Amino acid sequence: MASARLRLARVIFRSAEPGPEQFLPYPVGKAFGARDVLYRRFSEGRRKRPGTVCLHGVLYQPPAGLRGPLIVTTSIIVGGSSGLGRAVAQRFADRGDTVIITSRTTAHADTVATEIGGTTRGMAVDLSRPETIAAALVDVREVDNLVISAIAQGVNSLADFDIAEAIRAVTIKLVGYTETVRALRDRFTLDASVVLFGGLAKERPYPGSTMVTAFNGGITGLVKTLAVEIAPHRVNAIHPGVVGDSPKWRDVPDHPHVPRTPIGRLVTTAEVVDATEFLLRNTGVNAQDLFVDGGLLVT
Ligand SMILES: NC(=O)c1ccc[n+]([C@@H]2O[C@H](COP(=O)([O-])OP(=O)(O)OC[C@H]3O[C@@H](n4cnc5c(N)ncnc54)[C@H](OP(=O)(O)O)[C@@H]3O)[C@@H](O)[C@H]2O)c1
Repeated sequence: MASARLRLARVIFRSAEPGPEQFLPYPVGKAFGARDVLYRRFSEGRRKRPGTVCLHGVLYQPPAGLRGPLIVTTSIIVGGSSGLGRAVAQRFADRGDTVIITSRTTAHADTVATEIGGTTRGMAVDLSRPETIAAALVDVREVDNLVISAIAQGVNSLADFDIAEAIRAVTIKLVGYTETVRALRDRFTLDASVVLFGGLAKERPYPGSTMVTAFNGGITGLVKTLAVEIAPHRVNAIHPGVVGDSPKWRDVPDHPHVPRTPIGRLVTTAEVVDATEFLLRNTGVNAQDLFVDGGLLVT
């Protein structure tokens, strides 16, 4: 019997010969046959080695002449056209996911999607206009991993407060992130999960970070309420410290956080991507804030 934990997944064999993909069977506990269904439910599926898949502890192999199977995971990264979101998208594309990245413009989304490669495709989504988000995402068919990293960069201090910019920044991070989850919720696969990007500025403000500190604090609230609202799907937040090799910081030498960070350096994009992957994959972690800061918070 299918429990709530079971997921709908697709097992695809690609023919060794050029031609259309073939969708072949795997009734759990039986060997693969030549003709069966496209979709089956299973509680556990992962690649053991190329050309095999393990379901319920049983290792399956494709019929002769076919290679695969692949368990296709769909990952959407809202804000995947740059920086940390783009690096997450690259990691997922490299491992064979179907990846969707977004930018505010179709042209930039498409350009970056091509650069990332694989089956990555781009979409235009503007989180500063939350009423347009649902329509912008209407072509997304299913979601296993949802990562939202979009941000309007900039400083906005009280001394020189730009109200329009403040409203835009907060709208993107809080209303836009929430509406994105709501809009895609009906296409979540059974074990889909969500990662929202916050940042260490929520705990360590700097001059001009008033809005950043406030909205990243709001991300902590969002994961708590969304974990209840979208249960049993999981939602977690990642809060990077200053990411030394990200586009925002890579040309800024001698960041003052370096001598204050116990690991003796700034964290890297690869470390943030790895932590994001962990939050999406680990089925027990939910409603958490994960700091990836090299230990800065304890100093
Ligand atoms: N970099 C760091 O050191 C660091 C540290 C702590 C936390 N973070 C967090 O990590 C996340 C990513 O930061 P990043 O530095 O990698 O950012 P980034 O390189 O500036 O990329 C920002 C992304 O947001 C998108 N975006 C901008 N305005 C948008 C809007 N109105 N609607 C939808 N998307 C929009 C951009 O797309 P287009 O420009 O193509 O439209 C781009 O894909 C952010 O949430 C940030 O708070 C970063």
